[in-house]
Amino acid sequence: MERLIVEGGKRLNGEIDVHGAKNSSLPILAASLLYGGQTVLKNCPKLSDVDAAIKILTYLGCTVEREGDTVIINSDHIAQTEIPENLMHEMRSSIVFLGAIISRMGKATLSFPGGCELGPRPIDLHISSLQKLGVDIVEEYGKLCCQATNGLKGCKINLSFPSVGATENILLASVMSKGETIILNAAQEPEIIDLANYLNQRGARIKGAGKSTIVIEGVEKLNSVEYSVMPDRIVAITYLCGAAITGGDVLVNHINTDDIESVLPILEQAGCKLSVYSNKINISGPSIIRPVKNIRTMPYPGFPTDAQAPIMAMLTVASGTSMFVENIFESRYKHVGELTRMGADIKVEGKVAVVEGVKKLYGASVEATDLRGGAALVIAALAAQGVSKINHIYHIDRGYETIEEQFNKLGAKIIRE
Ligand code: UD1
Repeated sequence: MERLIVEGGKRLNGEIDVHGAKNSSLPILAASLLYGGQTVLKNCPKLSDVDAAIKILTYLGCTVEREGDTVIINSDHIAQTEIPENLMHEMRSSIVFLGAIISRMGKATLSFPGGCELGPRPIDLHISSLQKLGVDIVEEYGKLCCQATNGLKGCKINLSFPSVGATENILLASVMSKGETIILNAAQEPEIIDLANYLNQRGARIKGAGKSTIVIEGVEKLNSVEYSVMPDRIVAITYLCGAAITGGDVLVNHINTDDIESVLPILEQAGCKLSVYSNKINISGPSIIRPVKNIRTMPYPGFPTDAQAPIMAMLTVASGTSMFVENIFESRYKHVGELTRMGADIKVEGKVAVVEGVKKLYGASVEATDLRGGAALVIAALAAQGVSKINHIYHIDRGYETIEEQFNKLGAKIIRE
């Protein structure tokens, strides 16, 4: 099993480019199944989650080629409607294939999804929404068997929570359904806009993506398309945190700075100097990080749950007390135990984590517990005194393209072993 060996204490300096977003590549890859034809997907990151999605597409009957960061999918000949358990378990987001396969084939069979362990991750909103669109769903031997015997019909769906995945599944299932679908309390994340833009470029009629009400008018066909995936906002935040904690000076390129507006004031409160342009940020970290009182994760446009662990790592060495409230996922503090091994002082009670800043972190042998928690350990290790060994880095590889090479370009000293 691979691990990262990080020699801490190197100040980061230089320029770095952010790769394409995992969380919009995955639903767009699923969407490439719709109707048939070709999708040329540019800026598609080389991640193990993307590889898992490509395996699913290939299994279902698509031809898929990758050249650098471009993935070309032809979905003219779909032969399967079932995703086998081993492929489903490679990533949780495989649930997003459900809406796409039903739309294309009228039926789908999936086992329950795998992916990051972030406490119970129910799929009730996905299921009830698809049922409203006309899908019969039964659970048999741990499999979801779904059939739209009379086709998919537009309807009004009021989500009790603005779930990102459920909103994506509704978009995928309704884009070619009969009539109009209205999603109320839809997720407003930038990745939803990216998926809708991709679908609209193929000829779909989706209005309101990025707002809480989305209206989808079903169409009869979709075109082939060439599309470029948006930059990964959480990867951008991870690089910014690495620069901040090492007191570095880094220009982070290829980002939509509007997408991380809720995080920038927190970096500023922590003492970072930011020069913000539309598609890049220059960050200059302080000699001592300042604490940030109150960080509450919320659905977009609030502070993203995916940024909680990286920002927490940065605040472990602040000159005072910071506080987090995690409102989106249960069990999203698994990195806390590992940060503590490195000398951090963090207490968790339910949704709340209180971080007492310490003067120094120390290199230790730690374990990535999930994707963003793993990235948090890398950030902490960059600033720690001595050498850290980060195990279970397959979690990190799900969402970061060669994280060690990226940080090394900025002067870090990280080896993959
Ligand atoms: C997506 C992102 C993930 C991010 C999360 C929140 C992808 C591949 N993953 O995950 O990185 O952390 O959005 O921004 O895009 N819920 C239910 N029932 C459901 C669905 C969700 O109760 O049917 C709950 C979840 O348990 C969780 C909350 O809603 O507590 C948010 O989940 P959701 O927005 O669906 O996140 P994902 O799409 O899984």
